[in-house]
Amino acid sequence: MSTRRQVVLAGAAMLLAGPALARAPRIATPAQVAGPFAPVDWSGDVDWDLVHIEGRARDAYGQVCHVVGRVLDIAGEPVAGARLSIWQADALGRYHHPRERRADPDPYFRGFGRTLSGADGAYRFRTVTPVPYQGRTAHIHFQVAAPGHRPLTTQMYLAGNPQNRRDGLFMGLDDARRGLLEAPIRPAGDIEADAVRADFDLVLAPTV
Ligand SMILES: [Fe+2]
Repeated sequence: MSTRRQVVLAGAAMLLAGPALARAPRIATPAQVAGPFAPVDWSGDVDWDLVHIEGRARDAYGQVCHVVGRVLDIAGEPVAGARLSIWQADALGRYHHPRERRADPDPYFRGFGRTLSGADGAYRFRTVTPVPYQGRTAHIHFQVAAPGHRPLTTQMYLAGNPQNRRDGLFMGLDDARRGLLEAPIRPAGDIEADAVRADFDLVLAPTV
């Protein structure tokens, strides 16, 4: 089932049965490899905003993308205080990483970010819309850690991106799990001019 259809069905179910269903049991977000570009140095101005770096003359190149969602457990309850880390290529597909040999990355883009989920499990990152590079479809790497839950490393994809279907890592998942990693993306001029918004919830499995 597509993510869009899941969202529509979830919305319809909430209208029929009230908000209680919003906390229905959920499938844990599938794990994906961290890949070769996981950040090695998290020091400096690292926070939820990857687009603006303190003291730099301008913001990052590329389209601003607000990635928003919640961290939940498999009962659908919010997970507060989860530590979320993301990293991704810049607007031209280059990572801020010592292994990046293609070209220097955008000096105005942070390349990675960290934040904590709030009391309601909500989180937000301000970043740029990911682009494809070297055989990979557009994606954002995620790591999530919270006491009592299994640490999660995964990747977020853009729903409806035709290049997803040619991506080995994405296609390595079955249909249902692919849908869990696809974030619907839409214009978000209400948040910021010319920006888009990607909605991506993460569901953590309990520790065993
Ligand atoms: Fe990557």
